[in-house]
Amino acid sequence: MGTRIFYYTGTGNSLWVARQVAGELAGADLRSISARTDLHPSIESGTLGLVFPVYIWGVPAPVIRFVDTLTGREPEYTFAIAVNAGQVSNTLVQLKTILAKNSVALSAGFEIRMPSNYIPWGGPGPREEQSRRFELARLKIARIARSIKGRESLPVEKGPLWQRLLFSVMYKMSFSHVPTMDRNFRVDDTCTACGICVRVCPAQNVTLQEGRPLWHHQCEQCFACLQWCPAEAIQYGRKTPGYERYHHPEILLEDVLNSR
Ligand SMILES: Cc1cc2nc3c(=O)[nH]c(=O)nc-3n(C[C@H](O)[C@H](O)[C@H](O)COP(=O)(O)O)c2cc1C
Repeated sequence: MGTRIFYYTGTGNSLWVARQVAGELAGADLRSISARTDLHPSIESGTLGLVFPVYIWGVPAPVIRFVDTLTGREPEYTFAIAVNAGQVSNTLVQLKTILAKNSVALSAGFEIRMPSNYIPWGGPGPREEQSRRFELARLKIARIARSIKGRESLPVEKGPLWQRLLFSVMYKMSFSHVPTMDRNFRVDDTCTACGICVRVCPAQNVTLQEGRPLWHHQCEQCFACLQWCPAEAIQYGRKTPGYERYHHPEILLEDVLNSR
């Protein structure tokens, strides 16, 4: 009858948010969402939380698969937090529909803005702006925790109408292409064959061949391989050599490896 929070993360923002929320809700049980579909996650009556990043203006595929394989008792209260970089768009509306199909009612859906890890469009932004987002996130998490404790039923947060209309189409168009988008990854000569890219991948999509990472077209586009590479040897397209890498400053590589 307690609170169980499931999180999915590439670069730690969602794990950090999930931890902060769990800290506010004493005794909450924190678990990672596995990319493996053969694990049937069990929920209990009580409170269910889902914390995950927004990918291409929608819900990431591993989170959809996770919700589709949920078993157990219907929770009394369900909340979701879509961690994003400024464009939550229709993500929480989409999640609400997916949950409803699985007989789970989403009681409240919140968005939280964090620095961007979508490196093809640039780095995470200036440090001051990152710090500002962390501070605002802390304030919002305190408000979210009060709503969860009060079991408030709230409309899900969403982006402006133009964003939802336009980007829902983009999401649908790109969704089936995500696994093969790893064709744009490459590795340069600074690779030390440490194998962190292999271990940090939630989809077991990377192997080392002759000491170099090889991507197998089952990619989830979380960018963990590139962002956590200690040698910054992994590139995506032509521009990433010039872009700063990012992971949440309070989340360690070990934390993410433990969640895999
Ligand atoms: C493939 C991909 C797509 C993304 N698409 C969006 C998006 O549509 N809207 C947005 O605001 N942020 C988007 N982002 C940014 C992430 O949602 C954001 O940085 C998030 O905090 C990352 O969470 P994580 O550190 O837990 O992985 C995207 C990131 C990735 C890797």
